[in-house]
Amino acid sequence: MYSEEISKRRTFAIISHPDAGKTTLTEKLLLFGGAIQTAGAVKSNKIKKSTSSDFMEIERQRGISVATSVMNFEYNGQKINLLDTPGHKDFAEDVYRTLTAVDSVIIVVDCVKGVEEQTEKLMEVCRMRKTPVIVFINKLDREGKRPFELLDEIEAKLRIKVRPLSWPISMGSSFKGVYNLYDKSLYLFRPGGASIGEEVLTVHDIDDRVLDEHLGEYAAQLREDVALLDGVYEPFEQGRYLEAELAPVFFGSAVNNFGVKELLNIFTTIAPPPLSRPADTRAIHPHEKTFSGFVFKIHANIDPRHRDRIAFLRICSGKFERNKFFHHVRLGKDFKFRSPASFLAREKSIIEEAYPGDVIGLYDTGNFKIGDTLTEGEKIMFHGIPSFSPEVFREVLNTDPMRSKQLEKGLEQLTDEGVAQLFSHKQGNRRIIGTVGELQFDVIQYRLLHEYGASCRFVPLSYTKACWLTSTNIKKLAEFSRYRSEHLFTDKDGSLVYFSASDWTLKHVQEEYPEIEFHFSSEVNTGRSGLKARTA
Ligand code: G4P
Repeated sequence: MYSEEISKRRTFAIISHPDAGKTTLTEKLLLFGGAIQTAGAVKSNKIKKSTSSDFMEIERQRGISVATSVMNFEYNGQKINLLDTPGHKDFAEDVYRTLTAVDSVIIVVDCVKGVEEQTEKLMEVCRMRKTPVIVFINKLDREGKRPFELLDEIEAKLRIKVRPLSWPISMGSSFKGVYNLYDKSLYLFRPGGASIGEEVLTVHDIDDRVLDEHLGEYAAQLREDVALLDGVYEPFEQGRYLEAELAPVFFGSAVNNFGVKELLNIFTTIAPPPLSRPADTRAIHPHEKTFSGFVFKIHANIDPRHRDRIAFLRICSGKFERNKFFHHVRLGKDFKFRSPASFLAREKSIIEEAYPGDVIGLYDTGNFKIGDTLTEGEKIMFHGIPSFSPEVFREVLNTDPMRSKQLEKGLEQLTDEGVAQLFSHKQGNRRIIGTVGELQFDVIQYRLLHEYGASCRFVPLSYTKACWLTSTNIKKLAEFSRYRSEHLFTDKDGSLVYFSASDWTLKHVQEEYPEIEFHFSSEVNTGRSGLKARTA
């Protein structure tokens, strides 16, 4: 029974560059899963097209998005957990962290624009974590790039081998549909159709006359394409997909509900159930009976009148139960949770129990930070909840010396939530905030003032990259620290971090110090990948 619960879970995220169609696809999947009844229900979840001046609106939207952070529905006898990720690029860190809590990913690519920058960055994280990915090429109702060109682009930019499992028949105004290579059926496109924009015909094989009847002149082209791609791409092997070495590719049009059900069917056939996860002392298997889980996201400010926060916990093993005591490894204390929540589209409900693969929301009054682990007593910490190199750096200047303590507390807590990263410089107690986007600074300033009564101003710094340093050569590291002390900072765990002003400087420094390793990400909390400052 317990094993069955685990085996039927599929926990995944949809990622894309803004505007590729992630929200639309999410919505269609939820419609098929019966989690929502009408289109438009998840639209409010979008954070995009906003500039820093309307960050208040963004905060409001973030408030709304908490309810749709984790959506679940049943399909084909499986319990699907879909973790939402914010679309705005300034919240990329949030997305990176959410990717640590999923077992697989669907990537949406716009066929007109091809692979865009944000998708490339997100794919880096998937590759690092060996997360299996399925690619959905969207907007086939528009004149886009040629399918072979798109596949080449995916292989080159996302650096993964692909295998198309469906193939489009023309595109744009003459888009006819797709031929499914997996189950050999023809999906005919019916633009603007009522609820499902497709008609499915089973065909014997690619030479079936049914194709000529329905596709006319396009049948020949389809046959030519299929013959070509069978020669170019290796056959689909589920094992290679699960090893994150091969990405199956589908074509469709989310807004027209075309190819979405097909995607969902395949997803439920091939996507992995919860897998084991590496922790510091050993790997944790989902079927182990004792409970473990980690916090990958903290959402604050849900109700501005209260300082409530929700910590999102991914369950890795055992069973979570309401009102049972669990061990908070970092604090060394036991906690029980009276109202753990699960999320179903926009509704939040209290749950009694949850299983590996599930994500639950725990009300928190400041005990959690990202990367925290809950267990039944075992002292483990999960690996792979990294902090990524920020791209924007600003120094914090206190503008109200009477409220220094509040400022310090606010900075600590907001960075625990993962809003941004906090770095310190030994000399002069300088505090630097690093983020992946400009928006966070407005959010931080606003929240410091309204939640902590502290005020500050930010001074831009000309750095563009932060690297965590490790070396087995302590002498060289000490020498580096001496000569480059101006650019050396420590993160919240005390790990040494080098700030660089440009890729060129970084390259130069790397060449000068081959004994030192420069890492572009670190493990939050554990600080394991970085060397502690005191050893330097
Ligand atoms: P995102 O979450 O990845 O940012 O993208 P979203 O789903 O919001 O889609 C971005 C735009 O692309 C939306 O149009 C959406 O309707 C459109 N879109 C999604 N799928 C398809 C498709 O298959 N074909 C075509 N032609 N368009 C598609 P919008 O004008 O920005 O918003 P809206 O006014 O339509 O809501």
